[in-house]
Amino acid sequence: MQTRKNTTQVIAVTSGKGGVGKTNISINLALALADRDKSVTLMDADLGLANIDVLLKLKPLRNLSHVIEGDCELKDILIDGPNNIRIIPASSGIKMMNQLTPAQNAGLIHAFDELEESTDFMIVDTAGGLSDSVVRFCSAAQEILVVVCNDPASIADAYALIKTLNRDFRVQRFQVVVNKVQTDAEGCDLFERLRSVTEQFLDVVLHLKAIIQQDDNILRAARQRRPFYLSYPSSKSIKSFKKLASEVDNQNRVVRASGGLSFFAEKMIGSQEVLPSRVMS
Ligand SMILES: Nc1ncnc2c1ncn2[C@@H]1O[C@H](COP(=O)(O)OP(=O)(O)O)[C@@H](O)[C@H]1O
Ligand SMILES: [Mg+2]
Repeated sequence: MQTRKNTTQVIAVTSGKGGVGKTNISINLALALADRDKSVTLMDADLGLANIDVLLKLKPLRNLSHVIEGDCELKDILIDGPNNIRIIPASSGIKMMNQLTPAQNAGLIHAFDELEESTDFMIVDTAGGLSDSVVRFCSAAQEILVVVCNDPASIADAYALIKTLNRDFRVQRFQVVVNKVQTDAEGCDLFERLRSVTEQFLDVVLHLKAIIQQDDNILRAARQRRPFYLSYPSSKSIKSFKKLASEVDNQNRVVRASGGLSFFAEKMIGSQEVLPSRVMS
C-alpha cells in the first residue's frame, strides 16, 4: 500500500479569448494523458455552449451546485468519459464559489481532497474572458496553459490575461499552446511574438508546449460529438497532442507547501485570500 500522495497536478487551460480551442485541447490532452496510463479528471469550468459534456455526448444529471447544496457528494457527479477519464460537469455553482458558507467551503475542500488519491492530473477547462472565476481557477492551478491563435484579438487577450495573472497573482510561469496554425513555422513565429512582448514588459517566462495545426478532423469530430483523439488516430495533429501530453507529464512539477486538490479547492473558492492587489485597485 502506498503512502498517501498529495501530488495531483492541476492544469488550467485558458486563453483570454473564446473560440481558440480550449475545450478541444482540454479533452484531447486528457485523453492523451490517459493513454500514458495517467488517471485524469477533467473539470468543466465553462458554462458556454460547446462544453465538455456536449462534445462528448454525456448527460450529467447532477453537478457541482448539488455538491455545494449538500444533495450529493463529488464522487456522485463524476461522469465516466472515454479512456477512463472522469468529468466534473459544468455548473452554475462555479459562479457562486466565492460566496459559500464556511460549512460549504469546508465540504467542497474535503470533497476535492478525496479525489487526490485517484487523480494524477486535473485539467480545468476555463471560460474565455478575464472574469473573477477564470483568474481564480488559473491562480489556483499549478500550471497555466494559455491557448493562442494567430489573430490579433487572440494575441491581445492572451497578453491581457498573462498581465493580469502576473500583476495581481504574481504568476510568472506560463505554458503556451499555439492552435489552429497552418504550419509549425507560423506557430513558432507567433509564440516568439507573444514571448517577446510579454517578457519585455512583464516579469514572466513563457514556454512553448505544443503547436497544433488547423485540422479539419478536429472540426469533424466536434460535429460528430466524438472525441477527436480516439476517433481520428491517424490525423496530422494527433502527434501534437501526444507531445503536449508528454511535456505535461514530464515537466518539473511546481512543488507547493500544500499542493494537490485541497489547495486548489481552497483557492478556487476564495477561502485563501488571493486577490490583494485586485481588491485594492
Ligand atoms: N486545431 C484545430 N483545427 C481545427 N478546428 C479547431 C482546432 N482547434 C479547435 N477547433 C475548433 O474551433 C472551435 C472552437 O474550439 P473550442 O475548443 O470550443 O474553443 P474554446 O473552448 O476556446 O471556446 C470548435 O469548433 C473546434 O472544433
Ligand atoms: Mg470552451
